[in-house]
Parts: sequence; structure tokens; C-alpha cells
Amino acid sequence: MKISVVGTGYVGLVTGVCLAEIGHDVTCIDINENKVKLLNSGKSPIYEPGLEELMVKNIEEKRLGFTNDLEKGYHGAEVIYIAVGTPQKEDGSADLSFVEGVAKDIAAYLRNDTIVVVKSTVPVGTNEQVLNIINSLIDKKYYVSIVSNPEFLREGSAVKDTFNGDRIVIGFEDDIAGQVLEEVNKPFGIPIFKTDVRSSEMIKYASNAFLATKISFINEIANICEKLNANIEDVSKGMGLDQRIGQHFLNAGIGYGGSCFPKDTKALVQIAGENFYDFELLSSVIKVNSSQQLILLEKLRDRLGNLRGKQIALWGLAFKPNTDDMREAPSIAITRKLIEEGAQVLAYDPIAIDNAKHVLRKEVSYANSFTDAIKGADALLILTEWNEVKQFNLSEIHEYMAAPIIIDGRNCFELDEARKANVEYYSIGRPPITLGK
Ligand code: UDX
Repeated sequence: MKISVVGTGYVGLVTGVCLAEIGHDVTCIDINENKVKLLNSGKSPIYEPGLEELMVKNIEEKRLGFTNDLEKGYHGAEVIYIAVGTPQKEDGSADLSFVEGVAKDIAAYLRNDTIVVVKSTVPVGTNEQVLNIINSLIDKKYYVSIVSNPEFLREGSAVKDTFNGDRIVIGFEDDIAGQVLEEVNKPFGIPIFKTDVRSSEMIKYASNAFLATKISFINEIANICEKLNANIEDVSKGMGLDQRIGQHFLNAGIGYGGSCFPKDTKALVQIAGENFYDFELLSSVIKVNSSQQLILLEKLRDRLGNLRGKQIALWGLAFKPNTDDMREAPSIAITRKLIEEGAQVLAYDPIAIDNAKHVLRKEVSYANSFTDAIKGADALLILTEWNEVKQFNLSEIHEYMAAPIIIDGRNCFELDEARKANVEYYSIGRPPITLGK
């Protein structure tokens, strides 16, 4: 099938590359000329395990190309995927200007009947709007149908998720378009769930809202565990054994970040509000997440008092491991607060430092390694559970730090390990380990 994918951000690029890998003839369109050059040379602008290898392979096998020439990009496409961003507006709602812009481009360059697939996360009703924009501009010269096909991939395992996801959701009103999309996706070998367009749009928001709710829920249980001297790790495990609850997404920490949960939860509250429904539960989930991001600072102040002049090491800046993405990372709020309170911050992240420099600019100094970051530090805050962090031998901390004080926002170590290493260890939802205890 001849497919065009518009937008080579996270979702568009992974979608385009993976559709080529299952045998489709894919052209990815992006307006950024430099990015297109980079992509055509087989280089990925984002860090994503396995992506570049697949890109190179499919470019070589001539199933994948990138262009900023719209005429060429849309030419002959039987299916067009819209995968441009829907960033958050100031009021929390989704900014649909990129999606609408693409709809206008499609109308301008369309020369045959086509199926337009909306991959971008969009409020309920947007697919209809996209179809209306196109139809109003092409004057019924061609037959266009719309299919909603939300994306559920996780950053850091996007390629793996695309081939091993739990479901592919396609929402359509036109049965032929639905069948075509089913055929397009069949080679992935993943169960396909078919529904109407509006329900499909809602499935995406509801799924992300539910997962975010699980995280805020377990974080609050962790905070209560701390007060009651219970251990959240065991509480999560014990809860997760109930299949109705499930074991995933019950890791307590410093809250969710990234490009989806913060944006999509706010958008859903906003969509509900516009329709005169107060989504109280989700509003609380968002509020809990904001406070959870700063919980390490409370622990730090409890231990060190005033932070002015204190040297604080940060391990990890990305919103989660295996990504260089800094969007909405808890590290941003934490670092800004540390600086505001007069601390000196030395940070290390194996992948996200370059992106962090754009977000945090001069506020922070950057180290060259995990050990480099803790040299002479008064305390260490762990913000991302990178494997190198989890595998670090805690006893070595003494060689580097001014005081062996660790405040772990991701529960990377067993309490016993900390006890044996003779360090002070404060984590989330677990009893503290103080020296000699
Ligand atoms: C998420 C959804 O999982 C994906 O389906 C959707 O398409 C996009 O949003 P992503 O943002 O890549 O994917 O990351 P994910 O692995 O889901 O983690 C999101 C955030 O939640 C991270 O900050 C992570 O640290 C946090 N998290 C996750 C927890 O704090 N605890 C958990 O148990 C799980």
C-alpha cells in the first residue's frame, strides 16, 4: 500500500518506519528541510532504541523516504497518516492548528481518492472536523474517508511496542476504510479493536487518564505508607496480584512526566469542562502529580535544613529511562526549586543532557558521569531510574560524597542494600534508612 505520513516527530517517525518494515511503501513528510536531510541520511533526530537500524534498512530497501516537497509527498497516497503535534494551549486544551493545517495541505495536493488516518491525539470530534475541512476545500472531486487510529506507544520502547502492542484501535464510519486500515495493520499481528470514530478518539484520552490515575493513586498510598511505616513496594506487589488491579503502573515515585500524560490529562479535564462536566477525579490526579514532583525537596529540607550553598547531585534528568525526552520531566520543577533555594546543582544523565541544557540552560552544571556528579556532594537526588543507577554499588558512594545522603525518587535500591552500604537512604513510601540502623 502507498502510504504518506505527515509529521516526523515521535509518533510519525516510528509509525512511518514500522509501516515500511511490514512492507508498505512509505513517504514521510515534514516541513523542516534540515530534518528531512538528516532522516534521508539514515539518522534519527530522536533517541529511540532500534529505530535507526530499521530506518537505514528500509531506506536501503527503498520502502521508506522523507521529503519536504508536499506535491511529491502526497502524490498517489492511498492512505495518509496525520501525525503532527497537538501541543497544550495555555488553557490546557489541545492546539489543533497543526492538524488543521495538514488537512488544508491534503486538500490542496489531493489527486485521488484517499483515506486519511488521524494518529495525533485529538479531542473527540476532531476527526470529523478534519474530514469537513478537506471536503469543503476539494469540492467533492475525490472521495475521502477518515479513520481514527490513536497511538499507544511508549517512548524508549516505541519500536518494540509497535510490534508487540496489546491492541490497535481503529475508529471509522466508512466500512471500506475500516477494512483497508485493518489490512494495513494486519502484518503487525496485534489484536485490532474496531469502533466508531468518536469512541476511538476517547479511548486514547481515557487510557492515558486511567494510567495517570494509577500513578497518582499509588503515589498517595506511598505517602501514607511513609507515615505508617509500611513499605509501598510490598503494598504494590500485594495489590497487583489481584488481576483486576494488575501489576503494571503501580510504581511509586516522583510523578509522571513526558509528552503525553501531563498534556492529555489536562486536555480531557478541559474537554469535559467544555461539555459542562467537572472531571473532579482527574483534576485531583493532576494536582497530586504536581505536589509529588516536589516531594524529594521536602525530604531534602527535612535532612539538610536550609539548602543555600549546599551542593546537590542529580542522577537522571529525563522523565523516564531510555529516552532523551525532557518534556514535563519532574527534574525541571525540582531543579528550578533547588536553584531558587540557593543550592548548587550538578547533574548527570546518560542521554538527556543536551535536551536538558535547552530547558534548564545556565541554572545547572553538568557532570560527565554518575560518579563525577556526586563528587563532594552534600546529598544525591535520584530522579530517573537508569539501569546504570540501579546497578551502582552503593558502598562506593563514600569515596565521592561529602556525606552519604541519598534521596531516591525512583526506589532504585533495596533497603537492605542501603543498610549494608552504610548510607542514609530516603526513598518513596518506604521506611528511611539512617546511619547505624
Ligand atoms: C505514555 C503511555 O504509556 C503511552 O501508551 C502513550 O501513548 C503515551 O504516554 P510515555 O509517556 O512514553 O507513554 O511513558 P510511560 O512509560 O507510560 O511513563 C510515563 C510517566 O509515568 C513517566 O514519567 C514514568 O516515570 C511514570 N510512571 C510510569 C510512574 O511514575 N510509575 C509507573 O508505575 C509507571
